[in-house]
This record gives sequence, structure tokens and C-alpha cells, in this order.
Amino acid sequence: MGRFFGKALIIDNDVRFVEGIKTEFKLLEDYPCFVTKTFQEATKILKQPKHNIRVVFLSSSISMSGGLSELKEIRTSRPFLPIFLILHHPEREPKAILNNEDGFNKIIIAPKNFSFLTKEIDTLFISKETWADIQASEEKKNIEINLVKDRFIAVPLSDYVLTPKSFFNIFIQLGETKFVKILNAGDAFDKDLFETYARKGITHFYLADEEHKKYIRLCEKLSKKVINDQEIKSSKKIHNLLNFGNNIAQSLIHTGISEEKLDIANTFLNQSVHLIKNMKMKNESLKKFIETVGLKEHNATVSFLASMIANQVGLESIKSVKIAGIAALLHDIGLYYLNPDFNESELENLDHKQQDIFDQHEKHGGQILRKSGNFDEVIYQAVENHHMRRRGSDHTRRTNNINMVTEIIGAADELHNIVITKKINDTVMNEFLTTNLKRFSPQIEKAILELLNKAKST
Ligand SMILES: [Fe+2]
Ligand SMILES: [Fe+2]
Repeated sequence: MGRFFGKALIIDNDVRFVEGIKTEFKLLEDYPCFVTKTFQEATKILKQPKHNIRVVFLSSSISMSGGLSELKEIRTSRPFLPIFLILHHPEREPKAILNNEDGFNKIIIAPKNFSFLTKEIDTLFISKETWADIQASEEKKNIEINLVKDRFIAVPLSDYVLTPKSFFNIFIQLGETKFVKILNAGDAFDKDLFETYARKGITHFYLADEEHKKYIRLCEKLSKKVINDQEIKSSKKIHNLLNFGNNIAQSLIHTGISEEKLDIANTFLNQSVHLIKNMKMKNESLKKFIETVGLKEHNATVSFLASMIANQVGLESIKSVKIAGIAALLHDIGLYYLNPDFNESELENLDHKQQDIFDQHEKHGGQILRKSGNFDEVIYQAVENHHMRRRGSDHTRRTNNINMVTEIIGAADELHNIVITKKINDTVMNEFLTTNLKRFSPQIEKAILELLNKAKST
């Protein structure tokens, strides 16, 4: 699976090579890319932020300059974009080109097929993050200190990955800006100590934002290991995966969207898709998932549910399932910016001010994402309309102008807010099936009933 969020751009007019790439359907799912034979078309693609081009492969055969004038032109507008030069006939090239005197990221000599390029993509986007090098930070332990809250990210105690020695400097929060450091990186960290904090009513550990990035990589590695282990039950796999998803969601929502974080989110979605496609959902129904998932964080759970529904609706391609997954991961980003403590599952008891915030959060979320400019239009629309419904009597929330991904996120959102957080039982489930689910289009209703192993009722 490709480790990056976005697309590659291949500019090449070597018919055999280009046509070969177009037949590599599996690889193209993992490494989405545009293939074009002209630089003119490539320029148009590069100019569109929604295409999110992250790497360019440029063939020397596309122009008289052997790719040099094109390199210059791309570098003017995108100085940091990695550009690889493809030489199909190195024997015809001058020495200066072969020696890469013009500063391409690398020269690829006579690639036989697409995998010659995907190998380079893997090397380019591999994580260099390591958590082994974190040192004890300068704050003294067990003394109350004032710290800027925004620079710290909360990790639920129940989801914290226990290692014999702490890889991180760990804090607990005492007040708005008051923290106390309880462990230095390198300190021994056993279960007893952990349980002592839990007994004292501590629900979250706090990690500095910089260290939290490395913590996410630890979760990612652990989740990957667990997912690929045939002996481990699906519920444990989902638990680890949602831990990982929760942490990347927190980081995106609390400290902003960046390319690096979206690459990590992309890995979470890859793992989700892999698990959903390999977990025999017929035996392990959505109902079982709902019962075992517990009170996991909203965004990662909604993302996993959305991917499940997308897969069931018949959005077969990994790309479509991942679009639903990323839109779901970010669907409430506007809510956090308006009020970090807002709990969407308590919608019935909102006062005026809270109702105002709720009413604005879709639009506001869309604005935040549009500003970042890295996403597909479908994703913006899904975030902007995820509380709109195709059917039902609420005219303020009903529209025909709603895409499938938006409905998928809406359904996943309600499954979490209504069924999971309220603890599943027959009454809750019935209410969901007869009222909430009826507001979605028949296709979505059918998919969810299938996931719940229920026949469609009319
Ligand atoms: Fe929402
Ligand atoms: Fe939500």
C-alpha cells in the first residue's frame, strides 16, 4: 500500500511503458497517479490543488530539452516537489544528464514497468520517525508547572500503549494550563503504576505535540503488526487500529492539517480497508463490532464504520472507500474549532449557544478543509453536509442534493452517536432502524441492514 496521501504524476510519451502502467490496476489502487503524454496537460494538473500531486516522474522523451526546461518550470512554482527523471534510452543521453548535473531527485534508468516507480515512492515517503531517541525533557517531575495546553495532546489512559520503559515524557493535567510531569522518557513503567493513576481518576496522559507524532508512529507500527497476525482475533485488531486512528485524528483536529499527518492518516485508512476486506464480515457482523468496540473516540470509529458501509454499498475501489474514510475522520473538525468540549452525542439537550455552534460546525469544517486545499471536492461536500438527509420530515435538514459519501458519513455518525455511545440494546437499535435509518436513501439503508444481518423491511 502506498504510504502517501495524494497522487503521483507521470509525464511520459513512451507508449509501451505508459500503456503498461494503465493495466496495473492493483498497483494503481495503492499508488494513485495521473499519466499524461504532454507537459501542457501536466501543467494543468499540477495547478489544481485538489489533485494534490506529491511526486513527479518526468521522461526525457517528452521534449527537445530532455526534461530540463520542464524541471525548471515545475521548480519555479513547486520548489520542494520531488521530481524523478526517466531515461528510457540512456545510451542516447549526454553525460551531463546521466550524471544528474541538473538536480533531479534521482534518475531512473530504463524502467520496465510501474513497480520501478512505486519502489521510489516507497523510499520517498517512508517514515524516518523513531521514538527510541526521545530524551528526558527538562521539566522536573512531580512539580506543578504552567504549560500551554495547545502544545499537548491527550491520550486516553485506556488506549495508552504500555512499554516496559516509557518512550515518552508523560504529563497529567491538573487545571486549564497546570500540568505535572509524572514520567521521564526512559523511566520504568509498569502496569501497577499505570493502575494507580487509573484508580486516582486520571483518564488521560498528555504528550508534547512533537513527541505525540512519534507516539502515533508507535501505534501505527503496533497496529500493522497485529493486523498481519493470523492468530489474533478481529476485535483486538480493531482495538489497535482505532487506537492508531484516534491518535492521528486528534493530531489533525487539535494541532492542524499537514501533509505528513495526512500521509499517516492514509496509512490508517489502508489498514482499515485491509481489515474490512479481509475480515469475514458475514460472520463478524456490524452488530458484533458495535458490541465490542466500546466507547472509542468518535472520529476514528466513524471513519472505520464509514469504510465498512462504503465497502458494503458497493464502492468497490479502495480509492472510494478511502475517500469515505478520510472525510469521516475529519467530518467534525469544525466542531473542535468552535468548542473543543462539545459532545455531539448529547444533541437533545443543547442550549441556545450550543445549538448555534452545532448549526455552524459543518460549514466551518468545510472552510477549514478548503483552506488546506488538499482534498477532493466530494470530501468538502461530505463535511459540509454530513447532517443533511435525503428523506424525513425535517425540512431544514432534507435535501436531494447530497452525494453518496455524505450519506455514508451521516449514517456512520448516527451509528456512533445513537447506537454505540448509548450502549446498544433492542430499544435503541429499533429506534435507529425505524426512525434514523429511514432518513437515508434506500441503498444506504439496505447496506446497513445487510451489515447488521437483517433483511430489509419495507
Ligand atoms: Fe457533526
Ligand atoms: Fe460526528
